[in-house]
Amino acid sequence: MINLTKVGISVAVLSAAFFTLTFASPIQIHAGFELLGTVEGKIFVRPINGPGSDNLTYQDTIATCYSAGYRIATLETQAQNDVVEPFTSGEYGYRWSWIDGIDLQTPDAFFSVNTGRNLTYFNWTKWGQRPLIGKDENNCIRISCNSGDCGWWDVKCTDRYSVICEVPVGN
Ligand SMILES: *[C@@H]1O[C@H](CO)[C@@H](O)[C@H](O)[C@H]1NC(C)=O
Ligand SMILES: *[C@@H]1O[C@H](CO)[C@@H](O)[C@H](O)[C@H]1NC(C)=O
Ligand SMILES: *[C@@H]1O[C@H](CO)[C@@H](O)[C@H](O)[C@H]1NC(C)=O
Repeated sequence: MINLTKVGISVAVLSAAFFTLTFASPIQIHAGFELLGTVEGKIFVRPINGPGSDNLTYQDTIATCYSAGYRIATLETQAQNDVVEPFTSGEYGYRWSWIDGIDLQTPDAFFSVNTGRNLTYFNWTKWGQRPLIGKDENNCIRISCNSGDCGWWDVKCTDRYSVICEVPVGN
């Protein structure tokens, strides 16, 4: 039995300064998840803060997203990062979260489990990816804000955080 919460999204479209058109687009969000935003044909969601929601290994997140009909978010552009990143800030409780990308290590490349390709967009913080090239234990990607330093960090896949999930608009 799937329990869905209906969320109405109002989208304001400004057309050439002549008129503003407002319309509602109902988006179904799975129970236990919250909407972060939509951009470029993707809906980004994450588990609502609660017991266990920030205690997921990278591997756990695959099942967590999938069980609700989602997949772990692949942030492929700056616009997609812009939608997600603010929700990891202090204003939203510093919820550090997994995103798609596994380090292949030789040479340093991050493979997307969703697209089957290497990532080409990155948003490493200045501390985020160490070493830049070479083997280490930090093979998964966390997006987080810490003391205003927001962006991506390569971390151990067995660390425990929340997760950002995505689903294409229309699914
Ligand atoms: C996180 O999950 C692990 C493994 O299920 C468990 O042992 C641990 O107690 C949990 N920690 C918290 C803070 O929930
Ligand atoms: C990372 O993303 C943030 C917000 O999404 C943006 O402000 C910043 O310029 C980006 N940094 C880099 C290095 O691309
Ligand atoms: C990803 O990058 C690695 C390392 O450069 C390379 O060996 C691999 O072929 C690339 N994968 C794809 C699907 O392009």
